[in-house]
Amino acid sequence: MLSTQLHIDRDRLLADIKTLASFSDDTPPGISRLVFADADQKSRVWLKSQCDAAGLSVREDAVGNMFARWMGTRPELAAIGTGSHIDAIPHSGKFDGTVGVLGGLEAIRALQQSGFEPQRSIELLLFTAEEPTRFGLGCLGSRMLSGGLDSTADARLKDSEGTTLAQLRAAAGFSGSLDQVRLPGNYYAAFVELHIEQGPQLEKEGLAVGVVTSISAPAALRISVEGEGGHAGGVLMHDRKDAFCAAAEIVLAIEASALATGSVDTCATVGKCHVYPGAVNSIPCRVEMEADIRDTDEQRRNQVLRKIEEACTRVAAARKVQVSVTLINADAPATCSTRIVEAVVQAAAENGLSYKKMVSRAYHDSLFMARIAPVGMVFIPCRDGVSHRPDEYSAPQEIENGVKVLACALASLSQAAGD
Ligand code: GLV
Ligand code: MN
Ligand code: MN
Repeated sequence: MLSTQLHIDRDRLLADIKTLASFSDDTPPGISRLVFADADQKSRVWLKSQCDAAGLSVREDAVGNMFARWMGTRPELAAIGTGSHIDAIPHSGKFDGTVGVLGGLEAIRALQQSGFEPQRSIELLLFTAEEPTRFGLGCLGSRMLSGGLDSTADARLKDSEGTTLAQLRAAAGFSGSLDQVRLPGNYYAAFVELHIEQGPQLEKEGLAVGVVTSISAPAALRISVEGEGGHAGGVLMHDRKDAFCAAAEIVLAIEASALATGSVDTCATVGKCHVYPGAVNSIPCRVEMEADIRDTDEQRRNQVLRKIEEACTRVAAARKVQVSVTLINADAPATCSTRIVEAVVQAAAENGLSYKKMVSRAYHDSLFMARIAPVGMVFIPCRDGVSHRPDEYSAPQEIENGVKVLACALASLSQAAGD
């Protein structure tokens, strides 16, 4: 049995996680890694050297997705993919995404060292910009790999400084047309992503592994409120068109719309809000905010989006302000492949690890990879379910368990028959 020959080098993996965490724009323990910025670029160089050292052949595409391939004995067959992201939202932790990238690398190294020979090639993927921080749109790299974005993104996507994707990727050393990024539908026979759960269920139930069966449907809105500015003392309360007061009502309406579905699977968050001109003694004339709406049920998510639009119209009329709502994205949910779910279940069982099947409420690059390949995900617990915070933590044993399960699943999938 492969699991008995497989040795995960936990110290090496933990050292890798520590090294990657040292490339950050934040003060420790906070991590921040904005795509194409200095820390991201340094991380990429370092990761490439680790992949080279493992004998993987590395290529990068026009948007900076990196592919590191361990050639199988039958390289003509569709490969098995694994991987995740290394970009990190402002003031976050060191495990989100990185466990999937570095754990994927460690799984490959452990398989190599066990003497295992895959028939299908096994490929580690580093996706560009899973986080929406820079361009306001999540899963940039996997969206493009799966054909969800074309070359118009080059000029259309801009960061908060107004710099375009075209300029930023060129400065980062990634050239060529974005139309070449899309992968053919038969490129991967399977894609498996290892990730921290980012929720409390596994820890609460004392389980080692989550076997993901589906990924929730995310959407994002940009909401802009235009009111009238003025002197905080001179303009009387009844004469005001305060954009921030209107925005506050909208935020509460967004929360209420999510709660009103009565389902724990509906989530709505307004995590970004800029108030202009931003002076304590000046009435806010404009507010720009972004809302994140998710649900496992796409219809119900869309219903919430409609409710939010209605609330915006209502608040605009009542407060005599202008509200504009732009849909940034409204993605479909993904269903994991039963074949891969079974491979992960088998891998957990083979390693004597407890598991349960579960839904991912966070989104991942696998959401988009599911459009071009059968996908699956392995979750490991994280302390108190905390993520997107500096105190995000998964214990060494939990990470090792996840890598073992990933390695065994990759091994079994790499021997499967077919094209
Ligand atoms: C991914 O980071 C998400 O927000 O689910
Ligand atoms: Mn994240
Ligand atoms: Mn992530």
